[in-house]
Amino acid sequence: MRENISASDVTYVAEDGSPSIVALWNGREIGKLVYVDQGDGERLLSDVFVEKKIVLQQSLWANLRRRFSPGWGIVSASGLGIGTQLVQRFLLLCQQDAIREVFGNVTRDGDDSQPFLRGWYERLGFRIAPLDGRAEYGEVAYKVIWNPQGQQ
Ligand SMILES: CC(C)(COP(=O)(O)OP(=O)(O)OC[C@H]1O[C@@H](n2cnc3c(N)ncnc32)[C@H](O)[C@@H]1OP(=O)(O)O)[C@@H](O)C(=O)NCCC(=O)NCCS
Repeated sequence: MRENISASDVTYVAEDGSPSIVALWNGREIGKLVYVDQGDGERLLSDVFVEKKIVLQQSLWANLRRRFSPGWGIVSASGLGIGTQLVQRFLLLCQQDAIREVFGNVTRDGDDSQPFLRGWYERLGFRIAPLDGRAEYGEVAYKVIWNPQGQQ
């Protein structure tokens, strides 16, 4: 099975109920950005992820075949620009909603396992704010902050 995900087949849906933007491919959720309004024009980007392991077939036969060919019928949506799209659409929404500041926390685990995240956020227009070492931030490595143009 050689089905692959093409970025042009992905659609994005904003959901108001639990504030989020979802990336859909063939009706399946393959990525999601979740946010929370904090009041006073502040919005927390609480999570953004893109699936790295999408199992295309779940039949008994497919599962058996995977035992002998690991990875068969499994595709990744990572590295196709879907995470970038989710964040860009989110920032557009923030501008429409007249949000004053967006911020997110990158945990130490995330920083260790994905060192590219700093550059990724910076290219998307965020600035990196190092923590001042206060205990309440626990395992957070650094914050990322975004303001609409003209409010930096
Ligand atoms: C962070 C994340 C959402 C990025 O989504 P994505 O769709 O894979 O990323 P994109 O395709 O939009 O961006 C790709 C860029 O990120 C970088 N990147 C993404 N994955 C990478 C990897 N495994 N190794 C190195 N660089 C990587 C590249 O610099 C690439 O830039 P390029 O387009 O110039 O090559 C995704 O990796 C993910 O789900 N990570 C796990 C959850 C997470 O840590 N979220 C952030 C919480 S703070």
